[in-house]
Amino acid sequence: MIRATNWLAVVLLAGIPSFAATASGDQPGTALTISGERRISLDEDWRFYKGDVKGAEDPAFDDSHWTTLRLPHDWAIDGPFDPKLNPHTGALPISGTGWYRKSFLLPEDAHGRYFTVVFDGAMSNAEVWLNGHELGKRPYGYSSFAFDLTPYLLYGSKSNLLAVCLAPEEHSSRWYPGAGIYRNVWLDVTGPVHVAEWGTYITTPQVSDRMATVSVKTEIRNELATEATVSLRTTVVDASGKQVSMKIGRPEAVSAGAVRTLNSNLENLAKPHRWDIDDPYLYTLVTEVLEGKRVVDRYSTQFGIRTIAFDREKGFVLNGKTRKLHGVCMHHDLGALGAAVNRRATERQLQIMKAAGVNAIRTSHNPPSPELLEFCDRLGLVVMDEAFDMWRIPKVPNGYSKYYDEWSERDLREMARRDRNHPSVILWSIGNEIPEQKQADGWKEAKRLVNFFHEEDPTRPTTSGFNDWDYAIKNHMADQVDVPGFNYKPMYYEQIMKDHPKWVIFGSETASCVSSRGVYQFPIQKYEKDPSRQLSSYDIIAPPWAYCPDVEFKYQDQFPSVLGEFVWTGFDYIGEPTPYFGWEGNNDQDWPARSSYFGMVDLAGFPKDRYYLYQSVWTSKPMVHLLPHWNWEGHEGQNIPVMAYTNANEVELFLNGKSLGKKKRFSDPVDIPVGPNVSHDLNFYTKYRLLWQVPFQPGTLKAVAYSSGKEVAEDEVHTAGPPAKLVLVPDRNVIHADGEDLSFVTVRVQDKDGNLCPMADNTVHFDVTGAGEIKAVDNGNAATTEPFFADHRAAFNGLALLIVRSENRAGNIHITASSDGLTASKAEIRAEPIRENPATNVAHLK
Ligand code: GAL
Repeated sequence: MIRATNWLAVVLLAGIPSFAATASGDQPGTALTISGERRISLDEDWRFYKGDVKGAEDPAFDDSHWTTLRLPHDWAIDGPFDPKLNPHTGALPISGTGWYRKSFLLPEDAHGRYFTVVFDGAMSNAEVWLNGHELGKRPYGYSSFAFDLTPYLLYGSKSNLLAVCLAPEEHSSRWYPGAGIYRNVWLDVTGPVHVAEWGTYITTPQVSDRMATVSVKTEIRNELATEATVSLRTTVVDASGKQVSMKIGRPEAVSAGAVRTLNSNLENLAKPHRWDIDDPYLYTLVTEVLEGKRVVDRYSTQFGIRTIAFDREKGFVLNGKTRKLHGVCMHHDLGALGAAVNRRATERQLQIMKAAGVNAIRTSHNPPSPELLEFCDRLGLVVMDEAFDMWRIPKVPNGYSKYYDEWSERDLREMARRDRNHPSVILWSIGNEIPEQKQADGWKEAKRLVNFFHEEDPTRPTTSGFNDWDYAIKNHMADQVDVPGFNYKPMYYEQIMKDHPKWVIFGSETASCVSSRGVYQFPIQKYEKDPSRQLSSYDIIAPPWAYCPDVEFKYQDQFPSVLGEFVWTGFDYIGEPTPYFGWEGNNDQDWPARSSYFGMVDLAGFPKDRYYLYQSVWTSKPMVHLLPHWNWEGHEGQNIPVMAYTNANEVELFLNGKSLGKKKRFSDPVDIPVGPNVSHDLNFYTKYRLLWQVPFQPGTLKAVAYSSGKEVAEDEVHTAGPPAKLVLVPDRNVIHADGEDLSFVTVRVQDKDGNLCPMADNTVHFDVTGAGEIKAVDNGNAATTEPFFADHRAAFNGLALLIVRSENRAGNIHITASSDGLTASKAEIRAEPIRENPATNVAHLK
């Protein structure tokens, strides 16, 4: 369910009985008062203790010495980074026991209401109690889950106690999972007869320019001891708030204690406005449960009207038009914020991706936060929604395999039920690189999981990311899914399609190129662990199973019916610092490499050069990007490889005003080293980049891009002088005063003329006063143990990031950044109660 827009809440809630609550007040119990919303946040005022304690589920337990905090919360991101901890999970304290307790009071007149607590996700092995009664468990940290609180609730002056114990284990993940109640917690307040959790299912079986049919299945739960007779009113509201279709169903009986599905078809939605990548138009469906004339429950769901098809010849077809998937795989962490969900941080990641031409997200390798799907719906990104990284055969000793037999069906079905109304979701993935690929009967398990998805949602195809492609084909596992995905196998697309003339295939995971922003090492080298723990940004280094982006581009262009690709990865993520710390064991020399180098964007959200390589292939707005930087003091006269990434026809390079010649795109291939997986002679000729060897001479290197003979874009790099000043660049100057909203402030270290100092590592101190506070700091360096929570940060190759969070009050936020010997910089951000035309543009900084 999603929150109704403000006007909708006002208009629709007028005149119906109030039966929900809003939170207010303090410990010992947050007093929940009756108001008009079905869903309220339960994020405020939790008590937290990291450690194992006996009896903390008992309401009488004294937690007065515990920390008070607000959810979402990730205890592991506080660190410290520790060389004794597993670098594959970020060398952060992701395991142990953590307790959360929340007290709340309900008014006497809430008696007779029905209360459900919903956890969007808790990492992991959650066990939940209310007033000492065990409600249940949920091992998988990425699953959303809900419990009925009603039987054990107390009213009036008696306080209720919700207790949650989490017990995430070491070696339970191949990346940083976070730890804690890292997603939102909600209280759904309804009457005893209500729409069940994830009980609305909206499809649009007929769509034409003239008319669309909206088909709704609604599960009604009757918690009364007697039969209830209800009718459903379903209303479709367009994005401007106008009612465009409405239907009232016949009265139907729902037996005591039963759940009944009621169907409703709205056949008359005229001139449907389709949801599309370029125009992500959303409707809202308002479901009302009526007992007589009385509305006893109201539930709103956003949805989109669109058609999808996966065609062997045409590829992925959205609303009748082929769209090549320009996708990225994303892990769930939000960089310096850890796994703790934040709406703005989620939105920002997706906006940065979109600006590179990304149109698809793979939620590798687990169900995402509801917020991620909400923003994909709003921004026009299609989603491959993935369930698992492993089934029964473990990849790590304490991974999901331990819970697979007992929980896989439930986790998967509930994921489908939660996510199936999102127009952005186009593919269900049963798993990534599942080791059962190599088992003769691996197909059986694939079939079981595929069936669950088909039962919950027959409108979307299933997939899986196969890396042992030949095994998966031989054992018929690949036959089980509707659209087989292949990880790192573009060189076999042709063969696979020839052998399987009906298959529709795609690159479910591609590239895995590694680099550190702003680092350039000579000579251009292949896959090696540089002792600096930084990897060159010439965009050619990749592990043995992987390859640079150009290889995938070549095969995607060669085989247009391949649906497209999902690059590993959009953003750097915490953990998996490949090539450092191989799986064979810890290597002290690799410390402190602790986050990945795979992103086209670093952990702080600053684009690496690779970002522009993708942009040059995936976008058409003219662009050109030059690399490397131009500070090669001591290398005067030596040849420096200079690359340009462009989507224009040709580029002319100038050094200090003198032309070094024009190069045409696609006509002057560049030889780059690759692994034996790509080519026997270890060479690959890429037509996707332009290369010059330029004898270094300080000054200005300029690229001018031309299309049809006209200048369409340019880029410049300057030899920078010594660091002289700091410059602050907030991504938004106006934010919500809601205690959650963020401004991401880029800190640039510049010389006196305003050039970025490309190797500056000055320590920057932050002072934030007024209506906001420092939330976190970062610089995108994958190999540093500096904490994310601090009032200072060293720049990494000229850039640092300050994340400022608003408080629950309007006002100005004053930021000062200072550093020894540099001119300080100030910035002002306004925290406003209602966002006024927010500046959501993300500055792309070099
Ligand atoms: C893949 C795997 C990803 C990640 C990647 C790194 O094989 O599916 O999760 O580990 O390798 O290259």
